[in-house]
Amino acid sequence: MSLKGKKIILGVTGSIAAYKSAVLTRLLIKAGAEVQIIMSTSAFDFITPLTLATLSKRPVLSQFQKDETGVWNNHVELGLWADLFLVAPISANTLAKFANGICDNLLSAVYLSARCPVMVAPAMDLDMYQHPSVQANIQKLEAFGNSILDAESGELASGLSGQGRMMEPEHIVAKVEQFFSTTSDFEGKKVLITMGPTQEALDPVRYISNHSSGKMGLALANAFLARGAEVFVVSGPIALKVSKQAFHWQDVKSAQEMFEAASKIHAEMDICVFAAAVADYAPAEIAPEKIKKSDATLSISLAKNIDIAASLGEKKRPNQVHIGFALETENEAKNAQSKLSKKNFDMIVLNSTKEYGAGFQLDTNKVHVFHASGLSIESEVAPKNQIASLIIDQIKNIPVWV
Ligand code: PMT
Repeated sequence: MSLKGKKIILGVTGSIAAYKSAVLTRLLIKAGAEVQIIMSTSAFDFITPLTLATLSKRPVLSQFQKDETGVWNNHVELGLWADLFLVAPISANTLAKFANGICDNLLSAVYLSARCPVMVAPAMDLDMYQHPSVQANIQKLEAFGNSILDAESGELASGLSGQGRMMEPEHIVAKVEQFFSTTSDFEGKKVLITMGPTQEALDPVRYISNHSSGKMGLALANAFLARGAEVFVVSGPIALKVSKQAFHWQDVKSAQEMFEAASKIHAEMDICVFAAAVADYAPAEIAPEKIKKSDATLSISLAKNIDIAASLGEKKRPNQVHIGFALETENEAKNAQSKLSKKNFDMIVLNSTKEYGAGFQLDTNKVHVFHASGLSIESEVAPKNQIASLIIDQIKNIPVWV
């Protein structure tokens, strides 16, 4: 695929892998992209700005102010100019800055200003890459909707061998090309995503809920957004850090509130994904005051909640797509498939609590996708953002979509 006319900011930070950014620049330019390089000053120790300026055919930027002229390098304008903000290599230091909103150089200021999608390719030594703080920062960036180009395994500059090598430039270019080929395939589509748990109040201080973190739903919301969709999220209470302004975002607590919020917008949606773990039952009555401890046991009467997916499924238009999730603990495939017809889904995504790396809270999932048409596909264990892409790709096999 050609990258003709695509505007890419390539950030280069202080890592031995910075030498590979010369090859990366050459490949991006060869594919037709316009490349503006921004270096952190520590990257100068590994590759010269002259090399990258020559290959990119543009002056390399690194300071807020242009040295000779005193002219301001406008980070906001740079952030708006780009179609893609790619940082390769990204060091542990810059990862930490991006994850925590630290803005002490041009590159981190452009990161905070950029409205375009962001991809980062970490490069560091084996133990640094595995360190919980680095992994937590990577997860934060993923939660912001940034794409992580996972480090590859092999021999490292330290002499150790393992994961930490920056993804090879050819592989990065393939990811960039893939990104541009899919970025607009859902443009003009309105997508509703229900996500997270619901909380069903028992009294003013207690509730019944479940373990959903919202990670799977958020990965889907980010993936749809990256592919051009207008995304409407109805989210139960979650603790994830989210840039809500990128979405039409509605926070709710109970199943009833989720139902009301989803019902209001359902008719104008093209695609609805029901990823929320909705409580099937709620206390029949909410005690007006905190329930006091008295007897050895306490019985609470529960009443059935509305089934959001099933109820909206009855109103589904022929050209609307409904996708359900099923979290099962036994007879997984059979139970999931029976929900396909019961709730009028076009496709259901099964995740089993019995599968390693799948389900609640984790950053990974393993899914089995069943189509109403009979088609099915099973994934490996993979990060939830990759599973989200796989699920979205499957929508294209739904007859109303084709
Ligand atoms: O949030 P994470 O920690 O990342 O975990 C993700 C997840 C495991 C919560 C998610 O991937 C998932 O499986 N969500 C659906 C879990 C579930 O409630 O499954 P279910 O079999 O009970 O419901 C089937 C479908 O009906 C689901 O699409 C559900 O959203 C919907 N439903 C269920 C009950 C109800 N009252 N209303 C609904 O809309």
